[in-house]
Amino acid sequence: MAEFKEAPAGAPAGVRFMTWVDNRFPATQLFKEHMSEYYAPKNFNWWYIFGSLALLVLVIQITTGIFLVMHYKPDASLAFASVEYIMRDVPWGWLVRYMHSTGASAFFVVVYLHMFRGLIYGSYRKPRELVWIFGCAIFLCLMAEAFMGYLLPWGQMSYWGAQVIVNLFAAVPVIGPDLALMIRGDYVVGDATLNRFFSFHVIAVPLVLIGLVVAHIIALHEVGSNNPDGVEIKAKKDANGIPLDGVPFHPYYTVHDIFAAGLFLMAFSAIVFFAPEFGGYFLEYNNFIPADPLKTPPHIAPVWYFTPFYSMLRATTDVMVKVLCVVVALSVFMTLIKGRMSAMAKGAVLVAGVLGIALLLMLDAKFWGVLVMGGAVIILFFLPWLDHSPVKSIRYRPGWHLWMYIVFVLVFLMLGYLGIQLPNDAFTLMSQAGTLFYFGFFLLMPWWSRMGTFKPVPDRVTFHPH
Ligand code: HEM
Repeated sequence: MAEFKEAPAGAPAGVRFMTWVDNRFPATQLFKEHMSEYYAPKNFNWWYIFGSLALLVLVIQITTGIFLVMHYKPDASLAFASVEYIMRDVPWGWLVRYMHSTGASAFFVVVYLHMFRGLIYGSYRKPRELVWIFGCAIFLCLMAEAFMGYLLPWGQMSYWGAQVIVNLFAAVPVIGPDLALMIRGDYVVGDATLNRFFSFHVIAVPLVLIGLVVAHIIALHEVGSNNPDGVEIKAKKDANGIPLDGVPFHPYYTVHDIFAAGLFLMAFSAIVFFAPEFGGYFLEYNNFIPADPLKTPPHIAPVWYFTPFYSMLRATTDVMVKVLCVVVALSVFMTLIKGRMSAMAKGAVLVAGVLGIALLLMLDAKFWGVLVMGGAVIILFFLPWLDHSPVKSIRYRPGWHLWMYIVFVLVFLMLGYLGIQLPNDAFTLMSQAGTLFYFGFFLLMPWWSRMGTFKPVPDRVTFHPH
């Protein structure tokens, strides 16, 4: 136990109080470590506001969620009406509910931008691999949280969306049907499903999410923040061991982040007060109709933030599986003729390729669709080891790398758009091309990220005071 400190004689009440607390809990030490003596690079730009904004949205979601649970009824015969009761009769209930539904979409907007920042500045590279991995786990949890939350209002889209997604698990060979049954707790989505989704949505997943966010920030503060130049500020320190290009997070970036939070809250309020359905993108119109297990809506589409992945699922048709067989065959062929490996290793590659193609042809395309959809998220975990570029930040990469990222974003947006549309031949072809690009971008990264002429990286960060 650390020695008890005494407050100086005649010290103000605040100082005496904090001395009393610090003798029992390291409040000042924690504040120093994570705020006033956490040195962040001085060249942060506006891409760096999204981490704090994600924290703000997390707080909004938890707070509004607590108030919603006070009036919501997790019962298939009461759920829809209880949400309408919140909207019409509970004082300020409409505000709390719209904040929560808008918050869900805002979370994904903020987190997608936050992830993109990491992508362009190479923030997932050594030594921040764990920061990134915790982030990817957060993203998975967020998806689970949003998916289960969407069932709770028990509207037509809640019901049929859950039906479609849970049925996908039935495509897993051997255990699929039992797995889907276990998730639903019934043969169709019903009261048992609603109860378990409620329990996961309000307790289990938020607990994991909060734990992961804490781990994410601890990991980040252990290694220090990256910055738009991708230069490690810890490499150059002054005589006191403080990074020459670092500024204390508090007050410099607390002010920065509070300003950003102000702007964010203005946009957020504008949506909550004037366009909470956001043209059917944030709250789908079909979800204002109570769930009817006997009436399938003509067009079932997930909420916008899932649609890029949903497009990939729909793109995996029988034809696409054949294209994948050709891709596997070509990759094996290239490895055999170009790869510098022993004859045994080449034999193993050949056997794996033949087995892979056999499996692709044997199993249902729906199963591969599920795998492609899941793989699109899982592949993100491996990014730190896929990127072999000699520099971190896009600023010092060859110009055409920037174009790769621009096309990647456009393809992702296109997949998102296609996921909301009714499928037709042209759209299916576009989503198949988009899916191949998405996976090609990551799987071929070890090769293309090394190519081209890189610009020299400065020793110190670039910073122009304004
Ligand atoms: C609830 C969701 C999340 C919260 C609350 C959160 C919070 C934060 C905060 C406060 C920071 C420091 C400030 C900043 O650099 O913006 C940060 C940094 C970072 N986050 Fe997140 N994050 C979340 C999700 C994610 C996700 C999904 C990923 C990636 C898959 C991710 C990857 C990163 C990386 C790589 C950094 C370091 C950036 C750098 O130093 O350049 N985060 N996060």
